[in-house]
Amino acid sequence: MAITIKTPEEIEKMRTAGRLAAEVLNMIGDYVKPGVTTNELNDICHHYIVNVQQATPAPLGYGTPPFPKSICTSINHQICHGIPSDKILKKGDSLNIDVTVIKDGYHGDTSRMFHVGPPTVAAQRLAEVTQECMYLGILQVRPGATTGHIGEAIQKHAEQNRYSVVREFCGHGIGKRFHEDPQILHYGKAGEGIVLEQGMVFTIEPMINQGKRHLKILPDQWTAVTKDHMLSAQWEHMILVTEQGFEVLTERAEEAGWQDRIRERFKLA
Ligand code: MF3
Ligand code: CO
Ligand code: CO
Repeated sequence: MAITIKTPEEIEKMRTAGRLAAEVLNMIGDYVKPGVTTNELNDICHHYIVNVQQATPAPLGYGTPPFPKSICTSINHQICHGIPSDKILKKGDSLNIDVTVIKDGYHGDTSRMFHVGPPTVAAQRLAEVTQECMYLGILQVRPGATTGHIGEAIQKHAEQNRYSVVREFCGHGIGKRFHEDPQILHYGKAGEGIVLEQGMVFTIEPMINQGKRHLKILPDQWTAVTKDHMLSAQWEHMILVTEQGFEVLTERAEEAGWQDRIRERFKLA
């Protein structure tokens, strides 16, 4: 499938879809507490997307076998595509909630980590470094850069922290379809992959493991878990390539100022 370049009208619709997906993550945070089940979190998000946002949860019925729920909830050693269930969250768990909405025909896709009660030192550090990996990848985005610039920045930071990068899943173009070209690998070398152009929209969604990178898929055919059962973390944003660089279509108010903070911490221009 060819890479689509979005028109100004399409970009406006993707801004709306991105904002709605971000608002679901903002909304659900208050409910992530010891004692809640991931099914309850799913049902709250489903209701909000359908009835408040008048949008559609893209995961529900997606793929083969059809994904059975409206969000993905991936706990502790689960890497991604965790299926909400009657499992009760307990103090010290950490989880990724991944939300994708369809509004006016266009997708908005974003995810973040949550801690249930106070995090363990190990879970906190993994979640923080993984978020930094995502931000460092985003800062590479501009016309003329390659997807390899994004992957290299992410891989370097993960491996400098003695973490590993999951290879089996990647970021993706997005628009009228949930998953479009190009693939955005979270590892690689500057200059590899495709050259970024103004008007492309894609996700950057690194999955970073505390131990080895290898994974297995559970018999439900969706849930990816670390083979060594060590922790995994993921953060995801949807990015537009602009004339000057990028626009984060799923940014949350809570993140304001992240570019300056990351440039300062990593001594970037
Ligand atoms: N939201 C995931 C992504 O970032 C895809 C989930 S597919 C599902 O690409 F079917 F599990 F929802
Ligand atoms: Co995605
Ligand atoms: Co997603």
